[in-house]
Amino acid sequence: MTTIDPTTQVLAQLGISDPAGVPPLFADARKRFDDQVLQHASDPGSWQTFVVAWTGRKSGVLSQITDNWLKPAPPDLKRVVGQELNKLKAHIESIFAEREASMKAAAEKAAAARDKIDLSLPGIERPIGTRHVIRQTFEELQRIFLSIGFSVVEGPEIETPYYNFEALNIPEHHPARDNMDTFYIEGTREPHLLRTHTSPMQIRTMEKQQPPVRIIVPGKVYRRDNPDSTHGYMFHQIEGLAVDTDITFCDFKGTVEYFVREFLGPRVKTRLRPSFFPFTEPSAEVDASCHICGGTGCRVCKHSGWIELFGAGMVNPAVYGFVNYDALRLSGFAFGMGVDRLAMIKYGIPEVPLLFQNDVRFLRQFP
Ligand code: PHE
Repeated sequence: MTTIDPTTQVLAQLGISDPAGVPPLFADARKRFDDQVLQHASDPGSWQTFVVAWTGRKSGVLSQITDNWLKPAPPDLKRVVGQELNKLKAHIESIFAEREASMKAAAEKAAAARDKIDLSLPGIERPIGTRHVIRQTFEELQRIFLSIGFSVVEGPEIETPYYNFEALNIPEHHPARDNMDTFYIEGTREPHLLRTHTSPMQIRTMEKQQPPVRIIVPGKVYRRDNPDSTHGYMFHQIEGLAVDTDITFCDFKGTVEYFVREFLGPRVKTRLRPSFFPFTEPSAEVDASCHICGGTGCRVCKHSGWIELFGAGMVNPAVYGFVNYDALRLSGFAFGMGVDRLAMIKYGIPEVPLLFQNDVRFLRQFP
């Protein structure tokens, strides 16, 4: 047997002609409503459909009751139907209002919990990393030389043979020009190469600027070595050049000693050993007494007590000829330091590849 929805029928069809028959009819409707409240209460997704089913203007249950029970009711029933309908309406509306308020409160509570900021929690850490040990060494070297009046200039990594060799008094047959050491660049109209040292900037600076000159030149240089534990195909240098009318070997030695003590510590001694560079005369290798063992001999200084730091010397007057400087009036000194080498010595880093593998376990040791 199919049950016909009573709200689709008028009272006469339901067999009601006595006012006493009306309240039970509404009581049934109310009971159906209350049962459905229980069903939908546990299912927030269907709640809105439920609300529309009862209060929807076009075919909601309340509209149907109004259309089918109230409007066509005979005059003696109309009063009681109206009263009962108002009671049912009030009941339904109060349930919906209550429910709406509690849903809103729950949503607000959830949002508040979501948005709550606990100021006592530690902040979100965003690691920004550290400066690479080579960068730190560059900065340390620059700090030392800036403090005694040098300024920093930079130059091109792609050079011409003239600046890299010729003007530095390195003639055609010199072994440093051997293809073994130099990367030449193909396909350029004039020959170009990757600079093998920062010394070309001595020339470029003196071409542009009259003495006094006091510069350092940090940068990358390239040599065709087979990479191993002490070589890469690229390394870093800082060039130094000081030229003026009254610069003596004493100034050279004093500057070098000051630098070594600043960089490796006040107890370190400096030694100059005769050497050769085409662009300095006399030339020297600058050694430091071992900052690890104090000169008694250890693994770092290979048991000699001394460590070779860098090459230097008084500017060869021949170089002044290339830049139109007056060689009779001017004098100066120059040096060229391997920054990677200095960093390895200072921090006891045993192998070149460690510097460039970017292993964080290595990098973190230089915070
Ligand atoms: N340019 C030389 C090198 O790379 C170092 C140096 C620079 C020596 C300046 C003396 C003066 O080996």
